[in-house]
Amino acid sequence: MERPYTIINCAATVDGKIAFPSRKQLRISSEEDFRRVQLLRERCDAVLVGIGTILTDDPKLTVKKPDAKQPLRVVLDSNGRTPEDAEVMNEKTYTILFVGKNVKKRFNKKNVEVVPCNLDEKGFVDLNEVMAELVKRGVKNLLVEGGGTVIWNFIKQRLFDELLIYTGPMVVGGKNTPTIADGEGAEDEKEIIKLKVEEVKTLGEGLLVRYVPIP
Ligand SMILES: NC(=O)c1ccc[n+]([C@@H]2O[C@H](COP(=O)([O-])OP(=O)(O)OC[C@H]3O[C@@H](n4cnc5c(N)ncnc54)[C@H](OP(=O)(O)O)[C@@H]3O)[C@@H](O)[C@H]2O)c1
Repeated sequence: MERPYTIINCAATVDGKIAFPSRKQLRISSEEDFRRVQLLRERCDAVLVGIGTILTDDPKLTVKKPDAKQPLRVVLDSNGRTPEDAEVMNEKTYTILFVGKNVKKRFNKKNVEVVPCNLDEKGFVDLNEVMAELVKRGVKNLLVEGGGTVIWNFIKQRLFDELLIYTGPMVVGGKNTPTIADGEGAEDEKEIIKLKVEEVKTLGEGLLVRYVPIP
């Protein structure tokens, strides 16, 4: 299947968490990492997150530099839960919301498109359909920014080329705190996704590791 070159990027604590136990946004990235992610967004054609991230963090998903090329923003939202006033639909650039075919919700905004999709067996927007639709729209490079449920599904379905994890030197703890990859997890050895370390470097006070999937 043809799909965009896909980079998953995530900032995690030393214990693999990506937010507070309450799911509230946690600032993990250093200034250096923040700048790296901004550059990455600028280089990618589209940036994708799940509705969980929209509801907890309300991100803009834009590049802050005034004259920057803005990526297309993509939200996976099977049940059409994106609030009318979500920052991800601000007028800075275009936004596509992938929703289930039964969702009737539409937005009266010129820069927002709602694209109905089939759902997979878990009731989530079908990622293969999303990838095919993005290719059709000219997206060659896709940046997946989370959260844990979305990242798990991209990894599990092997729909990625690179996994970039910035580890901030901090521990947040908590049994139910969101992690890099949530979802249902692997059932046995066969379902574990094996990775290869391609690059390791210190960045600010943290560590950046680039992994690639082992075919
Ligand atoms: N540190 C970081 O780098 C970082 C980055 C982003 C987010 N976060 C944190 O991550 C947490 C949110 O993560 P989350 O797991 O709750 O939400 P999420 O991964 O952002 O979104 C998951 C939701 O997206 C929808 N979805 C639709 N199609 C999907 C598909 N094919 N695969 C997966 N999800 C699909 C589902 O809801 P429906 O069934 O309703 O569609 C699903 O529950 C927050 O605490 C946030 O602060 C951290």
